[in-house]
Parts: sequence; C-alpha cells; structure tokens
Amino acid sequence: MADNYNTLSGLIRTKKARIGVVGLGYVGLPIVLRFCEEGFRVIGFDVDPEKIKALSNGKSYIKHIPSERIAAFVKTRPALFESTTDMARLKEADAVIICVPTPLSDKREPDLTYVENTGKEISRTLRPGQMISLESTTYPGTTEELLLPMFEKGGLKVGKDFFLVFSPEREDPGRVDFTIKTTPKIVGGVTQRCTKLGATLYSNIVNKVVKVSSTRVAEMTKLLENIYRGVNIALVNELKMLCHRMNMDIWEVIEASKTKPFGFQAFYPGPGLGGHCIPIDPFYLTWKAREFDFSTRFIELAGDINSNMPYYVISRVMDALNERGLSLKGSKVLVLGIAYKKDVDDLRESPSLDLIRLLREKGARVDYNDPYLPVAVSHRRGFKMKSIPLTSTTLKKYDCVLIATDHTCYDYAWIAKMSPLVVDTRNATKGIKGTNIVKA
Ligand SMILES: NC(=O)c1ccc[n+]([C@@H]2O[C@H](COP(=O)([O-])OP(=O)(O)OC[C@H]3O[C@@H](n4cnc5c(N)ncnc54)[C@H](O)[C@@H]3O)[C@@H](O)[C@H]2O)c1
Repeated sequence: MADNYNTLSGLIRTKKARIGVVGLGYVGLPIVLRFCEEGFRVIGFDVDPEKIKALSNGKSYIKHIPSERIAAFVKTRPALFESTTDMARLKEADAVIICVPTPLSDKREPDLTYVENTGKEISRTLRPGQMISLESTTYPGTTEELLLPMFEKGGLKVGKDFFLVFSPEREDPGRVDFTIKTTPKIVGGVTQRCTKLGATLYSNIVNKVVKVSSTRVAEMTKLLENIYRGVNIALVNELKMLCHRMNMDIWEVIEASKTKPFGFQAFYPGPGLGGHCIPIDPFYLTWKAREFDFSTRFIELAGDINSNMPYYVISRVMDALNERGLSLKGSKVLVLGIAYKKDVDDLRESPSLDLIRLLREKGARVDYNDPYLPVAVSHRRGFKMKSIPLTSTTLKKYDCVLIATDHTCYDYAWIAKMSPLVVDTRNATKGIKGTNIVKA
C-alpha cells in the first residue's frame, strides 16, 4: 500500500506536486508567483471573479506586483499558473495553502467565516495524500480546533492520510530589503510528519524554514510578532504626546536612541495604526485569552493609545489653525495620503479614514490626495471620495495640509512652500524649515 507521506514528499521534492492557493490577495498572490518561479504548477482559487478575470488576462490588481510577473506565467508558461473560482478543483491540488482574510467582527471578535468556508470547501474534496497549510493570521488553536475536526469528519486521519500545518505569513507589502525567499518561514504541524512535510514544501520557496513543535506555537509566533509591533508603536506614540508637551521632537529622540548598537529597536509614531494586521491580530489573542480567564493588558493598553492617536492629531490641527486665527469648523483641509502606510495602495484600517471622519464631524471641508488610491470607499464610515490633483493652485486653496501617509513620491519641500499650513504626522518634512510646519 502506498504511503501517503512518502508519496507526497516525493512529489514535492521532484516539484511534481500541484499547489493550490486559496485567497489571491496581498498574501496569496505573491506565494503563487514564488511557487511558479520555482517551477511548480499552481492553481489559484478566489471567490472574487474580477480577480480571476484579471489574472487570466495576465493583469495585476496589486500596485507593488507588476502585471509582467503574472503574464510571465499566464501568457508565456500557461501550464504553470491558472486561476479559478471553482472550488471543486481543490481536489487537484496536492498541497493547499489557505490565505483568506481573518478580520474582526463589528463586536471586535475574531471573524473566522472565511477560514471556515474554505475549510468546508476543502473537506468536500479532501483525499488521501493531500496536505493543507493555513497561513491566515489567527489565534492559537484555530488549526486544530476549527479545521482539523472538519477534515477528519469524513474518516481520513491526520498524519497518515492527510497532513495539516500552520505556517504564518510574514509578507510586508512594499518592503524591498526582504523577500519571501529571504524571510525565514515558521512551520508547525499537527503531527511530526505534518511538520516535516510542511518544511519540505516551503523549503522550495524560502532559504530557511524554522520548525516549531505545534500548530499552536506557530500561530502564537505570528501574534507575538505583531503584538510586539503594536505595543512598541503605542509606546512611541505616547512618548510623542509627552515630548510635545515638554517641547521636544520625538523623532530627534528616536534617531539619537537608535545610535545604541544593542538593546534598542526603533519604532516610529504616527497618526494611528493601519493595515490588516497590527490593529486586528492582537485582539484575536485577547479574545482567546478570555477562555483561560486571562486579560491581555499590554494589548488593551496599546490598542487604547493607538486608537486615540487620530484624536490627538485633530487636536494638533485645531491648535495650529487657532494660532492662525482660524477654527476647524469651516476650514479647508487636505489630507495627504489615504493608504495605511507609505507606497502601498491598501486602504484597510487606514488612520486617514478616521482623520477624515473626525475632521468632517468638526465641520471642516475635507479633500484628500493619494496617487495610489484615486478613489476611496469606506462602507463602514459611509463615504466615497475621489483624490484631488496636487498642484500649487490646489495646495494654496487649503487652510491646512495634513500629512497622514508619507508616500516617497511626494515633494515635501514644494508642498511646504505652497501651503499656508502643514501638519505633519510622519516627520515627512524632516530637514525642511518653515514656520508653517507643525508636527503632530
Ligand atoms: N496583507 C498583509 O500584509 C498580511 C501579512 C501577513 C499576514 N496576513 C494575513 O494573511 C491573510 C490574508 O490577508 P490578505 O492581506 O492577503 O487579504 P486580502 O483581502 O488581500 O486577500 C484575501 C483574498 O481571499 C479571497 N477570499 C475570501 N474568501 C474566500 C474563500 N472562501 N475562498 C477563496 N478565496 C476567498 C478574497 O476575495 C481575497 O482576494 C489574513 O489572515 C491576514 O491577516 C496579511
């Protein structure tokens, strides 16, 4: 009788294994391309027909992934990459990688609907000799408490018939100094054989795989990484507010602290947290910790400070206008950068959305400019806006330009020269002199 472990291991080592990637967003699409680059045949799955249509035409829908990288497979080597909405085809994949969203619900509790739906689809066609890897960020226990029972329900046994691992994604969109290949990948399986197979799979696309003892440890590792960021950003955000009161510049302090060659890592303040990860993931752990009668105080405190930053920024805008004899009510404010961080086209959880909401609530007339997001829609906040062109004439029209996202493409010296007042939340105007520049 064929041993499923040896058969699948052989298929992966000889690159004959077919890879299925479920969820072709910021995380899933780069993984597809990495496996294709290594000569694996990949099927991409997504529920969004628009994405499948774009990919079939060799087109990208993510700014930092050029269409040429997709066309290089879809058009030139079509045997390597195809994409579909047909989940019945999951049975064709030897290894299935899950990269679907893990947001918070309206009550700020984990919303695992996407993972659950994907789990249901996989279990419909699960066959001996398949391996599944969950990459979506989630609380410790998800792989074994949610997915494993679904997969074993049909009678197949984990570690013998099929293999299940958790391997967190460390994608940082827009980063150029580290790639998927040069970023070590954590793998934790339900059984030792699961872990070994996971390591075999991922060693094809990354230079280093780090094996951990369980899926839970792998899940927790990702959360620690993101909580570490969230807590340290909260710390510098709090110190930024104190430095302002004490008439110091936090950015100068951080630059000086950074010269210590050990025991210090620089984090930077901003107008609040953004993106799919840092504002959300820590609360997956907070939720799970309740089951253990444990309160995650650092996470709560950091969340409290970070989510209050937009209010602080607005108070700085009000003060700066006040000094010029203006009130925020009725003033024209241009928010510069609506993406959640520089040089990306991602609007999710962007602090700019809160800034715009708060400015409007106080009666300001608000526009925004972002070269990467010509249109911004936020269903939660009930608005749809269009980016206005950035010219010297438009800049002069605004009472205040609020730098919310420090895209590299902006000419900050020119912006400061043309605008009556610039409120800068990112130290983008570093080195530029002007009494019209206020840090926030
Ligand atoms: N974006 C990041 O920088 C980043 C970094 C590390 C980890 N993560 C984690 O990776 C996961 C995915 O994040 P993302 O940023 O790629 O999300 P995304 O929204 O960009 O992409 C998710 C994709 O999954 C698709 N999808 C939803 N339900 C599906 C289903 N049932 N079947 C098939 N496809 C489905 C969506 O249409 C979308 O295309 C999340 O858990 C996130 O926390 C994200």
